[in-house]
Amino acid sequence: MIISFEGIDGCGKSTQEKLLAEYLTKAGYVIRRVREPGGTSLSEQIRDMLLDRESDIDPFTEMLLFSAARAQLCRTVLSKWNSMGDIILCDRFFDSTVAYQGGGRALADPEWLDRFQRKVTGGLVPDRTYYFRIDIKTAEVRKGGRSDSETDRMESEGEIFFRKVIDAYESLARREPERILVVDATRNVESIFTVIRKDTDRLLSQIGPVNTNGSAL
Ligand code: TYD
Repeated sequence: MIISFEGIDGCGKSTQEKLLAEYLTKAGYVIRRVREPGGTSLSEQIRDMLLDRESDIDPFTEMLLFSAARAQLCRTVLSKWNSMGDIILCDRFFDSTVAYQGGGRALADPEWLDRFQRKVTGGLVPDRTYYFRIDIKTAEVRKGGRSDSETDRMESEGEIFFRKVIDAYESLARREPERILVVDATRNVESIFTVIRKDTDRLLSQIGPVNTNGSAL
């Protein structure tokens, strides 16, 4: 089972991913955690290239590099874990490419990019995606006043870029309401987590067997 966490930088998704991992581990489930881009040594090398502020990357090349990192992750690691019935928590997955490269970079039409991503992952699609809806100003405050040297190549994009990323996430959420749950990320950590915990519990009761270490409730 795959659960992904999506939203613009500073939306708080990584905090919630960590809370869910702790909650599910305590409940006895086998949890696998990955962040994208990354998760294999090749994917981490690609990540370094992509996020390095010194890199000068053409937008189409950028989309292919994010996709290459994901293909390696999905085809060498995630497909195995998924077929074993583990619960995989992904801090970003292919919706990030549709939103950032498709929307932010206005690169390709979203339907094409979406279809392409399903080839990239070899057919792996999250069972649930939590999209953390937040406005740019609040996200900025959350990130804190970081200096230029502390922000990576993608984070250093301006407000117009992030507005387009948000628009793309919003239309994804409208297109796939069964998969994508919109979470109000302006609320406090506890109340957001309550929404996610309840939803995941419900999901686990509906979806077929997942791996436990023998002590799952
Ligand atoms: P990261 O430091 O992991 O950011 P975050 O904590 O916000 O997830 O850096 C990943 C950056 O790469 C982030 O700005 C989003 C961007 N990104 C894309 O543009 N396309 C993608 O397909 C993915 C996975 C990430």
